[in-house]
Amino acid sequence: MNLLHKQEDTVKANKTHRIRSVRRELSQNLIVYHEPKSHAAEAFRALRTNIGFAGIDNELKTIAVTSPEPSDGKSTTACNLAISLAQIDKKVLLIECDLRKPKIHHNFRIGNDVGLTHILADMILEDQSVISYVKEVPEIENLFILTAGFTPPNPVEILSSQKFKNFLDLLKKAFDIIVIDTPPVAQLADAAVVSKVTDGVLLVIASGKTNVQAAIRAKQALLNINANILGVVLTKIDKRSGRYYNYYNYTSYEDS
Ligand SMILES: Nc1ncnc2c1ncn2[C@@H]1O[C@H](COP(=O)(O)OP(=O)(O)OP(=O)(O)O)[C@@H](O)[C@H]1O
Ligand SMILES: [Mg+2]
Repeated sequence: MNLLHKQEDTVKANKTHRIRSVRRELSQNLIVYHEPKSHAAEAFRALRTNIGFAGIDNELKTIAVTSPEPSDGKSTTACNLAISLAQIDKKVLLIECDLRKPKIHHNFRIGNDVGLTHILADMILEDQSVISYVKEVPEIENLFILTAGFTPPNPVEILSSQKFKNFLDLLKKAFDIIVIDTPPVAQLADAAVVSKVTDGVLLVIASGKTNVQAAIRAKQALLNINANILGVVLTKIDKRSGRYYNYYNYTSYEDS
């Protein structure tokens, strides 16, 4: 009897071990997934609601996320917004359009063996449809990801091509909403050319970090191409400031 129990316990333990060992540890940056009850997750839900209102006259299907400078929190914002949209049963596609420093695949621990640039460079396998390059995130229902693919020598050329625009139009038919991560807009033309073909763009500003002149340049770069600026997302807010409590919990999260 005891032996039997022991054996059962060992089997149980092995099972638990096996499940634990295959379980992927998604990036701690995905706060909406890891801590859905946190203030930060609540802030992303508020952002989701506000975006809904911003599109009251025109349906928003494609949203670019950019910021003036590197490391302001663009990718983190794009990922968490995409998760919060997927949580209300929207079929969401998150596209990595930072072709220079892709981060999305890393946050979700998925491969970047094939992706957007392969499709736009006609490097898709003949027997596979374009949509098969979109990856699922097993942990998050309704969320799909198109990673960057190989690093091209000419990102701006690729992202400003008619082909990219046509491809986006095709994807719009397959998904309810498309969130697009981009590089810094005050330094590179990539984000502006992407924002030109999206329904709206979110400008991420890091509190106490983003340079004011860079922020002005970023806004101007987006206005120059008639982008629809949906609003500003303030990140990295100092907990002690006593303001903007919504983003408090975020300040301590660092990717491993
Ligand atoms: N709201 C936030 N509050 C505090 N830290 C944040 C926040 N958003 C992102 N971070 C941290 O800032 C760092 C940069 O974040 P992220 O990669 O999202 O920025 P980025 O603007 O996409 O950078 P890059 O220009 O390199 O693409 C990461 O370490 C991340 O954990
Ligand atoms: Mg990024």
